[in-house]
Amino acid sequence: MLPSQIETERLILRRPKMEDAQAIFENYASNPRVTRYLSWPTHRSVADAEEFLRMLEESMRREEQCTWLIEHRQQHKVCGSIGVAFKAGKHSEGKLAALGYCLAEELWGQGYTTEAARAVVPLVWSLPEIERLEAICHAEHMRSARVLEKSGLRYVGLDRAHMVLPSLGRHRQDMLRYGASRPAGV
Ligand SMILES: CC(C)(COP(=O)(O)OP(=O)(O)OC[C@H]1O[C@@H](n2cnc3c(N)ncnc32)[C@H](O)[C@@H]1OP(=O)(O)O)[C@@H](O)C(=O)NCCC(=O)NCCS
Repeated sequence: MLPSQIETERLILRRPKMEDAQAIFENYASNPRVTRYLSWPTHRSVADAEEFLRMLEESMRREEQCTWLIEHRQQHKVCGSIGVAFKAGKHSEGKLAALGYCLAEELWGQGYTTEAARAVVPLVWSLPEIERLEAICHAEHMRSARVLEKSGLRYVGLDRAHMVLPSLGRHRQDMLRYGASRPAGV
């Protein structure tokens, strides 16, 4: 069981609530520069954020993923999200966890996402069924690749024509794959 709230030096990571829709929309999900490399499209209205929250709630209830909103402690503001999705592993009996995140543009480049990811990654190993943690990012998205490296994941390889990203058109995009295996003795 992952904690519902995680506190770091500058951030609080907590479970999303329906009342967060407005802040999610205004603070980051309506910004096309934030959604450029994401698997979901830019939100065009608060209703999109509400629909997104309903989908998150349902998939969390089914234990398919676990998402926290990122709240800036000093600004008292929802400024992003981070989560892990659970999938069956290809080569083993254990499950795979996939890490994903996004942050409001005004806060980029100040180490916030790395701070959040460094708090979440060790918690994944508290789930005994998880053998491996992975993440993918667009092949041009060096900022995200750097977050993954700083959070303890290692470059695995290039997945060519791996997936469609809605902001980048209909073609499948090349993605960088990063990963980490359960540390020995954990
Ligand atoms: C990707 C994202 C989460 C990064 O968050 P962040 O809080 O700015 O990341 P951090 O500040 O923790 O780290 C960014 C690192 O990238 C580096 N960086 C920034 N721009 C870069 C570039 N163009 N090329 C290479 N590295 C770059 C920074 O220098 C920093 O590394 P350093 O600490 O070694 O100097 C944020 O930009 C974002 O939310 N983008 C939109 C959503 C998104 O793309 N999510 C990820 C989908 S895979």
